[in-house]
Amino acid sequence: MWPVLKLLLLQAICSAQRGVLTEGKQTQQAGHVSVVIVGGTGDLAKKYLWQGFFQLYTSQAGSGHTFSFYGGGLSPDDQGTPVLFDILKHVACSPDTPVERCALLKDQFLHLVQYRQLKTPEDYRALGRHIQETLQGEGMVEAGRLFYLSVPAFAYADIADQVNSSCRPAGGAWLRVVLEKPFGHDLSSAQTLATQLGGSLKDEEMYRIDHYLGKQVVSNILPFRKVNQKFLDPIWNRQHIERVEIVLKETLDVKGRIPFYDQYGVIRDVMQNHLTEIMTLLTMKVPQILSSSEEVLRNKLQIFSHLQPVGTKQAVIGQYQAYTAEVREELNKTTDQFSVTPTFAAVMVHIDSAQYDGVPIVLSSGKMLDERVAYARVLFKNDVFCVQNPDHIHCKPKQIIFHFGHGSLEHPAVLVTKNLFKPELVDGEWREVTEHKDTTVLGFPFSDYYVQAPKVQREPYAELIGHILSGRKDCFISAENLLASWGLWTPLLHSLRGSYPRIYPGGEANGNLLDLRLSATELSYASDSVVIISPETMGGTASESFQVTQGKFRGDDMVSAWGEELIVRLATDLQAAAEAAVSEGGAFHLALSGGSSPLALFERLAQHHLSFPWRETHVWMVDERCMSLREPESNFHSVHEHLLQHIRIPYYNIHPMPVMLRQRLCVEEDGGALLYEKEIAHAVNGSAFHFVLLGVGLDGHTASLFPGEKAHERHGDSLVALTESPVKPHQRMSLTLKAINKAQRVGLLVIGKLKHELLTQLSRVKNKPNKWPITGVHPANGKLVWYLDYDALLG
Ligand code: BG6
Repeated sequence: MWPVLKLLLLQAICSAQRGVLTEGKQTQQAGHVSVVIVGGTGDLAKKYLWQGFFQLYTSQAGSGHTFSFYGGGLSPDDQGTPVLFDILKHVACSPDTPVERCALLKDQFLHLVQYRQLKTPEDYRALGRHIQETLQGEGMVEAGRLFYLSVPAFAYADIADQVNSSCRPAGGAWLRVVLEKPFGHDLSSAQTLATQLGGSLKDEEMYRIDHYLGKQVVSNILPFRKVNQKFLDPIWNRQHIERVEIVLKETLDVKGRIPFYDQYGVIRDVMQNHLTEIMTLLTMKVPQILSSSEEVLRNKLQIFSHLQPVGTKQAVIGQYQAYTAEVREELNKTTDQFSVTPTFAAVMVHIDSAQYDGVPIVLSSGKMLDERVAYARVLFKNDVFCVQNPDHIHCKPKQIIFHFGHGSLEHPAVLVTKNLFKPELVDGEWREVTEHKDTTVLGFPFSDYYVQAPKVQREPYAELIGHILSGRKDCFISAENLLASWGLWTPLLHSLRGSYPRIYPGGEANGNLLDLRLSATELSYASDSVVIISPETMGGTASESFQVTQGKFRGDDMVSAWGEELIVRLATDLQAAAEAAVSEGGAFHLALSGGSSPLALFERLAQHHLSFPWRETHVWMVDERCMSLREPESNFHSVHEHLLQHIRIPYYNIHPMPVMLRQRLCVEEDGGALLYEKEIAHAVNGSAFHFVLLGVGLDGHTASLFPGEKAHERHGDSLVALTESPVKPHQRMSLTLKAINKAQRVGLLVIGKLKHELLTQLSRVKNKPNKWPITGVHPANGKLVWYLDYDALLG
């Protein structure tokens, strides 16, 4: 069927269509266009490209163009053909096309499509010959050849080379090669790729796609700014703009894409391209002539030259909690490996110009957030102070929202609050939305806005495919634009290399965890939970390259490292504290917890800290189980076994808790707790220990202070109390929060994956000592330091 019927179809369409298209300033003769989708049976082709080319085909009736389409793949023809035609079954006409017409169009289209194996140089030579023979055989004038490379970027250079050597059209016909991101992963790789491609293709032949530029609201930004210039010119500046927010929020995770995503992360995936493009469209000088690709691209580049460098102080990163497990599963990694690839980021950018100086532009995006929505909001300063009636429109924020899609609106739109101005419509393709919608947009009723929306919604890929055919280069990424964008992002990406993302649970549960705080020069998370900044620069992703890092946890200092390094660090800190105390007051008072977490620390101290001032050190107990101290389960027994028996410490410096008095265990009337309190008061200046070492249990308990029944309030001013544990042995003796909070330094040691959930929870909860006793630890005049190993911190 292919040659004969196709010829008839082509001729029928040809005779009906003789037209002229313009490309830039050049007039271009209509003729035959050969479209080759390399990767024609892949995911993108299946989802968007064939539909886009079908729309192109149907919309071109009357333009003078004729087409043939080739789906290229690595499989042999007999395997690739049925796969391709299965995909093509799903192409759809626009809703207003009558059924019979649609059936006819689809049938015509299917006859113009052919699968071809494109694996070897010979395959490309055969394709080149085939196109040439078809043109000659059917006596057609060639308009051009469009190669859409829907394949991984590593294959670009090779394919471009094949296209150049075997498939270049002769005569005046054009060659256009469409490339999908990623275009490199940093400035130097983008430069390398540009050089490689430059060996085969001219810059004007390359069409780098950013599908956001095909979104109707994005491509409407400049036209909107132009037609509303008389309203915008006076306010589009630092005197009036409070800030600009560019937001792309998604609810999905990245399962199934991890091999790609884990190499890239959110900054490379959407910020360097989609969000940066939007930023430039919002801030660049509005071109005199919107249809001039040269002017649009020139003005865009100008903005890049004014962008201030972005550093880690202007950025935060996050990662959804389940991500590491997904990485391990998809990349077959072992359970002790984790990824620090950010799945969420927010970055503040400034433009160094008289117009925008000091205006924060915040770009943010993430996976597994609370809703799917993409918008850019220009928020203006509002100097109206409403004494009464705060719901009046004059009292509300003044803003323009470019709503790209999804969210509460469910359709693309441009919204201008009624306290700003009534915007003009761009052209015949846009309409004013006047129907009342019972919805809110960014917290304000729909009725607060003037709203414009496209009359007909169109898919970005279909839009861009149309622009490729008409040679509209302003809708694509130029090489200079690309390199300028990488120039902005690469230094930040490099300096974030040693940083840990804040872990977030995903969806609604993120609560306020990812909220941001902006100051004139810095952007940070608004809540002070896990903020981890590594001073180390990480080489590669090898776990060994993570060293000790410092940061904040629940607003207090945090040190984190792999287990062994963490213990080394804690032991070193302890010795430093001991030496300082001894040199200042002649003694060091140290209170130790039981449990398994500190055992490695005890052993480290015993074996490696030979110069530790044990002679001047007094060892106290944080808590004790009500049992004989000779029992292996007693806390003192374990301190003795792992530490005391190995060091030279005077026995009168050792202070076990008096849990057994009068041959009975922890009886209130025997006053054991008071006795210990007096002993502390007698020996320790102001009863303030120099160092208290604590752990935390899975239920949030610390020392032997357990959740529930306001026990902590009951302790009043006591420094030591008898307490009840929910697990055996139930009776305990413990330092109270009062005693702990008198300490000069509290070290909180948390190790092991089991504690990860708890830490995630603790990073978010407020201080509720009755529920989580650990949240009552706040040394009044001292310092709390969390020692968290990576297993506990990152799970
Ligand atoms: C793509 C990214 O470029 O854009 C995806 O690779 C992201 O990770 C997508 O989900 C978002 O596009 P849209 O059109 O769904 O907002």
